[in-house]
Amino acid sequence: MAEQGLMTRKSVDDIVKSGEADGHKLSKTLGPFSITAMGIGAIIGAGIFVLTGTAAAQYAGPSIMLSFILGGVVCGFVGLCYAELAAMLPVCGSSYTYTYATLGEVFAWMIGWDLILEYAMGAATVAVGWSGYVVSILRNFGIVIPPTLAAAPGTDVTLMDGSTATAIVNLPAALIIAAITTLLVLGTKESARLNNIMVAIKLVVVVAFIGVGAFFVDTSHWHPFIPESTGEYGHYGLSGILRGSAVVFFAFIGFDAVSTAAQEAEAPQRDMPIGILGSLVICTLLYVAVAAVLTGLVPYDQLNVSDPIAKGVDVIGLTWFSILVKIGALTGLTTVILVLLYGQSRIFLTMSQDGLLPRLFAHLHPTLNTPYRSQILIGALVAVVAALVPINILGEMVSIGTLFAFILVCGAVIYLRRSDARVYRPFRVPGVPVVPICGILFCLLLMSGLPLFTWLRLIIWMAVGMAIYFLYGHRHSVLRHPERERVPLA
Ligand code: ALA
Repeated sequence: MAEQGLMTRKSVDDIVKSGEADGHKLSKTLGPFSITAMGIGAIIGAGIFVLTGTAAAQYAGPSIMLSFILGGVVCGFVGLCYAELAAMLPVCGSSYTYTYATLGEVFAWMIGWDLILEYAMGAATVAVGWSGYVVSILRNFGIVIPPTLAAAPGTDVTLMDGSTATAIVNLPAALIIAAITTLLVLGTKESARLNNIMVAIKLVVVVAFIGVGAFFVDTSHWHPFIPESTGEYGHYGLSGILRGSAVVFFAFIGFDAVSTAAQEAEAPQRDMPIGILGSLVICTLLYVAVAAVLTGLVPYDQLNVSDPIAKGVDVIGLTWFSILVKIGALTGLTTVILVLLYGQSRIFLTMSQDGLLPRLFAHLHPTLNTPYRSQILIGALVAVVAALVPINILGEMVSIGTLFAFILVCGAVIYLRRSDARVYRPFRVPGVPVVPICGILFCLLLMSGLPLFTWLRLIIWMAVGMAIYFLYGHRHSVLRHPERERVPLA
């Protein structure tokens, strides 16, 4: 430990040792395949199944393909940094841990608090998208969920008779969070197995959409490829590609969730880089292909709908395929929620061991070996948020919070290369510091595309977090009070 000021930081050696000491408590059941599937599980979801249409229709037109390439490049820079740190520090705290070793405790707390936006709020956002798809698919089977019970309170919804009403609560969103929380409490291995199956289903559906849809593409829909700007920033033209990227950035979130499973990986030094970079590359290629096919099937100005991929399938004219795509979307969204809720509990677990959160978050079930109390508490809070808050507010908060975390991760690579140059790195980012600096600049570029209100919400959120730190974490921190033991997993 360094000095006792706010910059108190953990040494890399301590982190690695404590990770090894705790490692045997969690089951090491995840191989490279499960880890990559976990990454894909967290990545492909509401971004591609819900947001692509809006982004193409309102901001980028067919050049949404370029927005996806830009998003992939940004995440590629960041993903390389995550891969280096996750292989070097195989503990489950993700960017929280990396920041603890670089900028010190107070920044680590800030990032841990910020990650709630990515993980817990991310799960709530995707649950709202899930609710939309489940209502739509049930309607295909003649089951009607009252629209007032499937949207955030205060949202205007259209009833069956065409009249409008104000929604009361989003029940399906809350229910899916409850169901997945139960699964996660029951066991990591079981959850991973189900996740693998669901990831396979969504991949088959996405690939089928690309494969079948490609034969029906009308290339005239790709002209003009970059629609002329309306004059308003972000509406078509080059600035539209950038705004489109900021929106579809949500589609890439999740590759970093892989790093939260480091202690449950069979061989983290091998599996972390494979899982992070493998899932990112696969998803980027699929996204660009989906964007190309979708904008080739449907004129971009008709894509402003909540189920754009299903709309693309309608053009092909196969009704059964449309239902299959909705099922694929539903499974896709389910896996994203699963991995994000899992990741949130593992980050809290590490923060609790460090004394920054109460001990209950590090408490494992005696036979299931899962942090069940924490998982249930997280599930309950996320279910309430998903039931009450609209998707657009949630989605933008998730993006800004994640980009902020990504910037610190890129910074951590540069810092640790200097401060802990001799520590063994099974995977090394090429071209340091250029690659991490590119990551930082690109993240800032995407953040600049988000509205002022979202920035304000982030600032308020972080201010609340700081107050909690000084009231609790600062007083209970293990690092700050050497007489206290690091909380063991129990
Ligand atoms: N990338 C995830 C999604 O698109 C968060 O749903």
